[in-house]
Amino acid sequence: MILVTGGAGYIGSHTVLTLLEAGQDVLVLDNFCNANKKSLERVSALTGREVPWVEGDIRDAALLDDVFSQHEIDSVIHFAGLKAVGESVQKPLDYFDNNVNGTLVLCSAMSRADVKKIVFSSSATVYGDPASVPIRENFPTAATNPYGRSKLMVEEILQDLAVSDPQWRISVLRYFNPVGAHDSGMIGEDPNGIPNNLVPFVSQVAIGRREVLSVFGNDYDTTDGTGVRDYIHVTDLAKGHLMALDYLSRHDGVHTFNLGTGKGYSVLEVVQAFEKASDRKVAYEFHPRRAGDIARCYADPAHAEEVLGWTAEFDIEKMMVDTWRWQQKNPNGYSDSTLS
Ligand code: NAD
Ligand code: WQD
Repeated sequence: MILVTGGAGYIGSHTVLTLLEAGQDVLVLDNFCNANKKSLERVSALTGREVPWVEGDIRDAALLDDVFSQHEIDSVIHFAGLKAVGESVQKPLDYFDNNVNGTLVLCSAMSRADVKKIVFSSSATVYGDPASVPIRENFPTAATNPYGRSKLMVEEILQDLAVSDPQWRISVLRYFNPVGAHDSGMIGEDPNGIPNNLVPFVSQVAIGRREVLSVFGNDYDTTDGTGVRDYIHVTDLAKGHLMALDYLSRHDGVHTFNLGTGKGYSVLEVVQAFEKASDRKVAYEFHPRRAGDIARCYADPAHAEEVLGWTAEFDIEKMMVDTWRWQQKNPNGYSDSTLS
């Protein structure tokens, strides 16, 4: 059985669905600080399988000991954590406690239970402002904010752990920009309050929840002056976790992979793709650059292809069509959705 921490969240719920469809058994551990239980109910409805879950915090060592002793867990996919860059600058201690201390408590409990296989959610943010693109896994790492630092610290902790005990099997997955939703439109990203990320914001403008998109910067050295990113469909990302876990059944040590498409799209290209997918206009206005943003960031995903056999299947069009389907079926996210 696979323990999925943060399994009720955006990427976690899509991964749980993929795991269940592949016939795996899962147990979700989530404190629901940024998730709705409906996501798990929907995964259950979509797969026709029960989704067992425990409400709790990864920083609760006693709870983790109970979870590991009561269930036959052989591996962990670790999504749980806080992820808002701006908030991390305001509340660094919360971020280090959740993301770094939380992972320490989790790994210690795993060690006590002799469960030494983990897939960790890292981020392209660990490359800081890369000297060139596309970005390969051996590029230098750097962090520009507490969130990014928390990811880097965990990566380093996991490296040290593997050195200390060769039984550990660890995969570090560096996601680029996850977007989209399951193509049923039943699960998707449901940000609290004003979305920080581009695609949820664009989608909320299209549905009429927000008036106008602020485009942060049109003076970057890119094709149209706006920032370029590697958007990756969440279902492709979910599949990457399955393949990383499978790889760990055959390999020990730490294995780090970029999960991206290898293609970069500007903010205006994303707006255009969304307008086409939704057949709605997305009003936008230019604003100054957002602090900490970089001009361009996209992956060289060749390592994941060569080693895991993983490549992204879905293009930007499908990412936007699926986001729009989710948004239309759930205009206010999970909270007051009329879907069961
Ligand atoms: P999310 O907020 O939707 O999911 C995180 C889940 O973890 C939520 O369900 C939340 O309730 C839970 N959680 C948070 N702290 C917890 C704790 N202490 N104990 C138990 N549960 C806890 O975020 P997501 O977009 O699904 O991201 C999943 C992971 O991927 C995170 O680690 C994030 O940093 C990483 N990541 C996300 C992105 C992105 O853009 N979405 C990009 C790169 C990396
Ligand atoms: C994309 C582009 C913005 C919002 C962040 C984290 C990263 C990772 C993914 C977790 C940029 C522009 C955005 C808006 C805009 N998360 N934009 N108007 O910044 O690439 O990455 O999420 O690990 O760590 O930093 O993603 O979606 O916020 O921005 O113009 O309202 O859209 O400037 O060029 P980002 P994003």
